[in-house]
Amino acid sequence: MTNPDSSFQVDSLIAEDIDAYLDQHQHKSLLRFITCGSVDDGKSTLIGRLLYDSKMIFEDQLAALESDSKKVGTQGEEIDFALLVDGLAAEREQGITIDVAYRFFTTEKRKFIVADTPGHEQYTRNMVTGASTADLAVILVDARKGVLVQTRRHSYLVHLLGIKHVVLAVNKMDLVDYDQATFDAIVDDYSAFAEEVGIESFTAIPLSGFKGDNITASPSANTPWYSGPALIDHLESVDLASAAAQERSFSMPVQWVNRPNLDFRGFAGLIASGTVKTGDPVRIVPAGKTSKVKSIATFDGELEEAVAGQSVTLTLEDEVDCSRGDVIAAAGDPPEASDQFCSTIVWMDETAMKPGRGYWLKIGSQMVTATIQSPKYEIDVNSLDHLAAKTLELNSIGVAEFATDRSITFEPYAKSRELGGFILIDKFTNATVAAGMIEFSLRRAQNVHWQPTTITRDDHAAMKNQKPRVLWFTGLSGSGKSTIANEVEKQLALMNRHTFLLDGDNVRHGLNKDLGFTETDRIENIRRIGEVAKLMTDAGLIVLTAFISPFRAERHMVREMLSESEFIEVFVDTPLEIAEQRDVKGLYKKARSGELKNFTGIDSPYEAPENAEITVNTVDMTPVEAAEYIISQILPLK
Ligand code: ADX
Repeated sequence: MTNPDSSFQVDSLIAEDIDAYLDQHQHKSLLRFITCGSVDDGKSTLIGRLLYDSKMIFEDQLAALESDSKKVGTQGEEIDFALLVDGLAAEREQGITIDVAYRFFTTEKRKFIVADTPGHEQYTRNMVTGASTADLAVILVDARKGVLVQTRRHSYLVHLLGIKHVVLAVNKMDLVDYDQATFDAIVDDYSAFAEEVGIESFTAIPLSGFKGDNITASPSANTPWYSGPALIDHLESVDLASAAAQERSFSMPVQWVNRPNLDFRGFAGLIASGTVKTGDPVRIVPAGKTSKVKSIATFDGELEEAVAGQSVTLTLEDEVDCSRGDVIAAAGDPPEASDQFCSTIVWMDETAMKPGRGYWLKIGSQMVTATIQSPKYEIDVNSLDHLAAKTLELNSIGVAEFATDRSITFEPYAKSRELGGFILIDKFTNATVAAGMIEFSLRRAQNVHWQPTTITRDDHAAMKNQKPRVLWFTGLSGSGKSTIANEVEKQLALMNRHTFLLDGDNVRHGLNKDLGFTETDRIENIRRIGEVAKLMTDAGLIVLTAFISPFRAERHMVREMLSESEFIEVFVDTPLEIAEQRDVKGLYKKARSGELKNFTGIDSPYEAPENAEITVNTVDMTPVEAAEYIISQILPLK
């Protein structure tokens, strides 16, 4: 039990030996916690009480109070409790819509950071922000009111965000005459709910923030029937999340590679879990290469061993490929890598989630593009009911599947917050729009080494959230096929569609460089392009091809290779005279002079389509207009 005079002892230590004090302070463990409840529940008073009773109020808070032009003390001096609480409440009122207020205080045993978050429903975002790094949550209940809808909401979020320690602070006990029966009834009520949410255990404390009962010492003379810890005792003694993290296998997302000279290559990062020792076998995920730890460097010099929560630079015995975003992990227990997931998502932006749009997804030190599908359901945070939803609006929580453009190394959030929690960032505004927690991978990778997996063409299409198609542009040389196809591709990219443009002139430099312009060669040219386009639709892409493709038969052949409605013939109907007038490459001139043989439209036929899905020309339309028209004809893209 805490000695109520403990702060006095610390004060004397400051006076006697400042170095000893600073040393002791530096080596104290740090507990981060969050308080959930509304101003009505007495949250400001409770936080004020913690700061006041611990006495060690940091200077930024004092400065904030000072700006209220009220009398304040300096560190260690007496501070008027009422003034302090007023100051906190005023600050909170002003900041209520914007952010989480972090407050720092310390006791003899531990340092604390408390995230003070507004309690109203619309501020889920703030609570998620505050809770994501917390080890413990203090859920405030007004003893007169008991468990409310908001208590349930807070508890659900606390559980969702993986906070293992929950304190049910039954506050304002003074206003119910410290009645044990009232306290017991609230605890019973909450137990039932906690079980429903999945909270395995919680510590209930009857207290009064205003009067100071069971804050620093227990039992208060007013609650002789209570045998549990006082709030500060409990905060000082709970296990830290880092302690749990240290028990798991070693993993460290690589933040950067440090290469001051050719002989040294260090991998710097924050150890997410476990312990690492020199000589330990490690594996680089996702590549799968193994090596051994050669050295562990920190700011304080070389170490033999380091644990979760420490920032280190590792060097390895072997020259292995490893870069930012990779994870160095215990060789025998590496995290998984996958590119398709099911996760819970908390939407935090004014603009609703856009299923199918690509967002930046940041997880650990990895940054990839993720495409989120329509939610499987939304969760009503008050009733925990599952609701049907097409999207997620500000402050709503849902479960959705998403795919990433490349494999990421992860752990389910329940196992690791570091490797299982992510944020989504809007690519255009750069705003953080959502926080997410990976539940599981949709296709469990059996082995972290890269290996082909059985993904069907439907899987590919679903991952890209689009219907694969071939937009087959046909028309004379100089008709505008490439220009329009390029414009269509640009516009599709802006719509976050995954495309690929195969262009005659370009493909003839590579894949088809062995082909000329005889009839046979042109047929083979189109056959190959047809096959490539088909492969690309198998990969889920919207393919654009720009080839003269002068013969109906070959165009028909390609149409037959694909399933119905996947082949869209786009006739760029520019008359020969116009194409010849433009003669961008000077080829018509050469053909007319006989210098160039088998030129389409001159001495080689062009068979115009009879039933093209789309016809455009470059006489009446600009390329942009033509592209817009084409896209309007192929909507919807899914
Ligand atoms: S196709 O006949 O097989 O459809 P493709 O679209 O690949 O032709 O290539 C056409 C391009 O090749 C033209 O845009 C032009 O730049 C160039 N080219 C060179 N010789 C010829 C030719 N004899 N006929 C047509 N295009 C030619």
